[in-house]
Amino acid sequence: MSALKESDSKPKSPVIWAVGGGKGGVGKSVITSNLAISLAQRGKRCIAIDADLGGANLHTVIGMPNPKYTLSAFLRREVDNLHEIIAPTPIPNLWLISGARALMEMANPKYTQKEKLLRHISKLDADYVILDLGSGTSFNILDFFLVAQEGILVVLPEPTSVENAYHFIKAAFYRKLKRATNRTGVSEAIDRVMVEKISRGIQSPRALIENVYSVNREAGEALQVAADNFRPNIIINMVRRWDDKDLGQDISVACKDYFGITVEFVGEIEDDDHVKKAIRMRKSVMGMFPASPFTKSIHKISRKLLSHDGDSHE
Ligand SMILES: Nc1ncnc2c1ncn2[C@@H]1O[C@H](COP(=O)(O)OP(=O)(O)OP(=O)(O)O)[C@@H](O)[C@H]1O
Ligand SMILES: [Mg+2]
Repeated sequence: MSALKESDSKPKSPVIWAVGGGKGGVGKSVITSNLAISLAQRGKRCIAIDADLGGANLHTVIGMPNPKYTLSAFLRREVDNLHEIIAPTPIPNLWLISGARALMEMANPKYTQKEKLLRHISKLDADYVILDLGSGTSFNILDFFLVAQEGILVVLPEPTSVENAYHFIKAAFYRKLKRATNRTGVSEAIDRVMVEKISRGIQSPRALIENVYSVNREAGEALQVAADNFRPNIIINMVRRWDDKDLGQDISVACKDYFGITVEFVGEIEDDDHVKKAIRMRKSVMGMFPASPFTKSIHKISRKLLSHDGDSHE
């Protein structure tokens, strides 16, 4: 892969987007792959990475056969560099790093393996890297989510999915705070808040940070910076009723009120039969149905996310 290799001289880092969601089957993979295609179509050199280490299937929704090399080879140290396992896709400007085969050992890589993978990802030579995360809120998933400049949560208009989204946001937020300081006592204080009910005022993140600040100014400031930089995005997927899309704004308002966290609602995607048709044919939705409602929503969302970088590319 001559055009895309790990950069050894110029330290330019790609912009990383990560797509997660507490619940399985909400559309993470289909949205990741099509956001990646949308970026590629806008001329961005983009690498999609299947970071769902337990159930990799990103290649299928991009419309590719089973890849020869996967992240397993990197995690097992059969290859030293990620560029050795980057595969071209049929879409210009888009490359894929496929997920590990469903081996239990790969689904839960050790801390050092994960940190190495994150380091290598942030050195890839591309304009954008998009990560498809597995479901759940394990530390591995949260750490991939937090390494991204744009963390994107996919939520369905169903109570269980909404509950999972709140849980994910809370878990990711406290994980971010924990990683911001290693001061003794602070980490334990965050753990205590994590298990308490958020409705009690004193346990709010703001109260926690103020508390830490009063004891140790430096640690308090580190937490404040981490909190200010935590700005996840949400997408409401498989919208069926006209009022389903209001949910995005409702979640955003609730996160501000209860957690003091800014969550941006970046768009809704309707329940569109073209998605299932394309997946059944093992093709990308955007490739098969460029005028479908799904495709239009994805373009709108990618444009909105790009504008966060000050990129107004149409
Ligand atoms: N907007 C949509 N309209 C219609 N069907 C959709 C839409 N989004 C997703 N789906 C359906 O949901 C299924 C699951 O999507 P996908 O595999 O992307 O979810 P996932 O969150 O990645 O799941 P997992 O947690 O298992 O990795 C798809 O196969 C498709 O049938
Ligand atoms: Mg998936």
